[in-house]
Amino acid sequence: MTRNVGILGYGRFGAFWAQLHAADFAIHVHSRSPRREQVEQDGFRWHDTEASLCSHVDVLFLCVSIGAMEATLARIVPLLPAGTVVMDTCSVKVWPTRWFTEQLASRPDVEILACHPLFGPDSAAQGVRGLPLVLFPLRCQDETFAYWHDHFVRLGLAVHEMEPHEHDRLAAYSQGLTHFIGRVLDELDLNESPIDTVGFRHLLSIIRQTCDDSTELFYELQTYNPYTGEMRERLDAAFKKISEQLNRQE
Ligand SMILES: NC(=O)c1ccc[n+]([C@@H]2O[C@H](COP(=O)([O-])OP(=O)(O)OC[C@H]3O[C@@H](n4cnc5c(N)ncnc54)[C@H](OP(=O)(O)O)[C@@H]3O)[C@@H](O)[C@H]2O)c1
Repeated sequence: MTRNVGILGYGRFGAFWAQLHAADFAIHVHSRSPRREQVEQDGFRWHDTEASLCSHVDVLFLCVSIGAMEATLARIVPLLPAGTVVMDTCSVKVWPTRWFTEQLASRPDVEILACHPLFGPDSAAQGVRGLPLVLFPLRCQDETFAYWHDHFVRLGLAVHEMEPHEHDRLAAYSQGLTHFIGRVLDELDLNESPIDTVGFRHLLSIIRQTCDDSTELFYELQTYNPYTGEMRERLDAAFKKISEQLNRQE
């Protein structure tokens, strides 16, 4: 039975994820930067080292930035007690699952699930009910997958079992495009006005939902997903096509 859940990486998402699981588990935290005061204020147990965190938990959620995942995995592989379940939370899936399988090849005694909650502190501000979460059993017992699947369903999430390439293909648009458009719109310094249409208010809300995330996360969404390059080329071509159609009218 899972009692102790570890959060490695207490950034925007790690802190949010810890809070979401606080009612069901004892939460243990370690992060690269010292965050004891903040973590204890939030009601969780701080660990000074990755080794201490790993030795106290049944399940470890990796909430570090995508670019830090490979090196983080290399450090923690020898620290994981047999029987630990490890789950990432990365917003892309192809590269992290490759790193998981390579780095944990020598640890068949550790179970691995790929996980991506498609929401965060901004999009879940009104609660998580009905929001999507992708889960994929990379190397785990059927009971482990069923346990976490059911746990996320109990939280009210819409859980989708999806393999990493399919996830990244779809996320290149549902997430990559949205964040790209959010950053582009933010460049325009748009403001509310008394004659805003509903559509314009939706555009402003896209800025709010995307631009609070770190610039690092934005770059990682665009560079670690093998399908976002094609998405941006298609977007560029679509802009040009519509502009050319318009130019022909003048
Ligand atoms: N933001 C979201 O809405 C959202 C939603 C779903 C999934 N995610 C995923 O959650 C993860 C974190 O995103 P975030 O939004 O929380 O980003 P963030 O606020 O920038 O936090 C990044 C985290 O990674 C740690 N980190 C960065 N570089 C590191 C390194 N070289 N070695 C060790 N730790 C390092 C940071 O540690 P310190 O701060 O302690 O230095 C921090 O805990 C990403 O994998 C992202 O794809 C985010």
